[in-house]
Formats: sequence, structure tokens, C-alpha cells
Amino acid sequence: MTLKGKHIVLGITGSIAAYKAASLTRLLIKAGAEVQIVITPAGKEFITPVTLSALTGKAVVSEFFTANDGTWHSHVDLGLWADLMIIAPATASTLGKMANGIADNMLITTYLSMKAPVVIAPAMDLDMFAHPSTTRNIEILRSYGNIIIEPAAGELASHLIGKGRMEEPEKITAFVEEFFEKQESLSKKKILITAGPTYEKLDPVRFIGNYSSGKMGFALAEECAGRGAEVILVAGPVSLKTDHPNITRVNVESAEEMYNASVNVFPNMDAAILCAAVADYRPKEQASEKMKRNGEELNLLLVPNKDIAASLGGMKKDGQRLIGFALETKDETQNALKKIEKKNLDFIVLNSLNDSGAGFQYDTNKISILSRNGDRKDFGLKSKKEVASDIITETLA
Ligand code: CTP
Repeated sequence: MTLKGKHIVLGITGSIAAYKAASLTRLLIKAGAEVQIVITPAGKEFITPVTLSALTGKAVVSEFFTANDGTWHSHVDLGLWADLMIIAPATASTLGKMANGIADNMLITTYLSMKAPVVIAPAMDLDMFAHPSTTRNIEILRSYGNIIIEPAAGELASHLIGKGRMEEPEKITAFVEEFFEKQESLSKKKILITAGPTYEKLDPVRFIGNYSSGKMGFALAEECAGRGAEVILVAGPVSLKTDHPNITRVNVESAEEMYNASVNVFPNMDAAILCAAVADYRPKEQASEKMKRNGEELNLLLVPNKDIAASLGGMKKDGQRLIGFALETKDETQNALKKIEKKNLDFIVLNSLNDSGAGFQYDTNKISILSRNGDRKDFGLKSKKEVASDIITETLA
């Protein structure tokens, strides 16, 4: 009973794959979930509410009102009740409405009110799936944090062969089981994450900084929080937002501020992931007035900053884990292993410099993870969200 006690809203739309929703309902219930079906008017043309309510033991919700008796179905209550919403099958039209907030049926209003994560399994003919508007709508839905279960390739209802077939109910159920398992895998863990660049002040209007966008660190924070951890995110100056309730954000500017914030909280943490691009040096003097140009050469004297990773490595107690990042231009494995030793890390994540699309500013990254005992695991080019999931699974799970 892997889904015991879980409340799942299953949204069904008008696709021939709606017949598979009956098996999906059965499998979710067999795994212990309580399922509430919300179906669109077109969905009811493909599968009858009687079949579905017989499986769930609950009346199917479809209209805003029940005719003649004045009952109003509350999409808001459903949004609060659910631990997960699955929309399977999701047609091209429903994807478009969801992406654009067109709430003209009970399913879309429920979607817009949903507090829980949303998993979408599209189903349509291959040309509809390949249409740029579908691609764009899926991208928009992903950007809202919705999870897409890609359709499979094979023979479609039209007898054409291609990608568009809704994923099989067994696979969707397995995905949901794994999703919930993952969601709780870091519960009760406290994790410190440093992210972004640091700015080292020269005068009131200038600083020495770097190109770090903070995206990788924020993706790690979201991933840990999504798995139930309490996260302290010590962030350098970045324009990113995060509103996950499990994330406490501490904004800092300089390496020294980042050091103080990190050292302060580390004793209470189970792990720290040091993803920030910390400036190794800061100007020795900070001018209190704007520095004036005088046409002469200007020498800046820099002094070293403290190494946050190495300091936390020195404080580390049994059971605490420390994960660092490294960007190396030569002898990467050897240098990374040296950093593990020097900073007393448990793992180091090596960023690739040689792949386009990896590293600073990009939304994608390509990494290798090295452990203290010399094991190395290489990963392909992936979105920073997927990379974050790989890092957490490898180093903290
Ligand atoms: N790091 C840190 N504090 C610093 C410098 C680095 O916490 N003052 C952390 C980074 O967040 C990263 C790891 O240490 O997790 C390695 O950073 P990197 O810049 O590669 O290492 P350095 O020790 O600065 O070595 P170098 O720049 O000489 O390669």
C-alpha cells in the first residue's frame, strides 16, 4: 500500500486514451490512494462517469453545479484536499487552457486552485503533439513546476505511428509511487546551501563579482525542499525568487557575510552543499567615497577571503555531510580529489567547462560527481532541475 492515505485528484479530458484512466484509477486505489475524479464534458464522451465512480466509490465531479438541487462543487476545496493532481489523458486543448489560465470547465478551475504538485500525461495524435503550440504550452507548464510524463511512441488511434500515446497506467502509477517516496526521502533533514556569486565592494558604487547566476544552487534548494528537507539558502546577490515554504533564504553580499551566515547555522545542519561562486579575494581597502579617475594606472591590493567550505570541513561532526563544487581547467580529477582532501568534503561536483550549455548563466549543466574514495560518476547535459535531482540522489539519499 505505497499510496496509503494519499489524496489524488485525477483529471480526465476528451481523448480516446480516457479509457486507460479507468485502469489508472484502479491501480491508484489498489496502491492505497483515495481518488477523486474530475472529468471534462468531452471526457464524458469517451468514458462514462458511472464506470469511474464505481471504481472510486465517489461521485465524479464534472459540472460547476449539480442541476436542480443547487449543489456547488468547490474546486477550491479539491485544491486543498489533494496531495497530488494527475491529468491523464491531457489533450492539446486542455494543455493550452492550463498554460493560459482559461478556466472554462471544472477541471481547469481545479487545476488553477491546486495547492499540490501536478502531473500531466498528454495524449494526442503525433502531429498535434509535434505542433509548436503544444511544445510551447508544455514548456510553459513545466515552468510553472508541473511535471510532464512524456507520451510514448507507437501506433496511435489514428493508425499513424509516432509520439503521442499516453503513457501506460502501470508506468504512471510507478511514477506516482516514486514521486511520493522521493517527497519524503529528506524529511526531518536540515540542509544548508550556498548559492550565487559574492560581490566584494571597492567603493559605494563598484564591486568585484563573477558571472554566477545562482540557478544551480536555487535548483538544489528547491529539490531538497521538495523532498521534505528544511533548507537554509544563503544566497549572494541574484535576481532569482523562491517561495517554497521549506526554504529560509538569507541574502548576503560579500564572501565574509556568506561565511558568517554559513558558519553560524552549520552546527545544526545534517548537510551543506556549497554551490556559491565565492570570491577568493577582496579589496584590502573599501573607499567610503566614489573613487575618482585621475588618468594614472590603478593598483588594487587584494587580500584573501576565508574558505567557507574548508571552514565547515574543519567543524564537521560525524554524520554531517559536506558537498562542494569545482570548476577545473586541467587535471580535473586530481585537482578535485585534492580539494576533497583539503576541504574535508564527502563529495565534489565537477562542472564541465568543455560543453556548450553547461555552467554559469545557462539553464543546463553537465557534471561528474566524485566521492572521497575516488569513485566517479559522469552525467549527460541536463536541465539544472534534473542535475539537482541527480546530485541529491547521489550524495544525500
Ligand atoms: N568555496 C568556499 N569558500 C571560498 C572559496 C570556495 O566555500 N572562499 C567553495 C565553493 O563554493 C566550492 C568549493 O569551495 O564548493 C571549490 O571552489 P573553487 O573556487 O573551485 O576552489 P578554490 O578553493 O577557490 O580553488 P581554486 O579557485 O584555486 O581552484
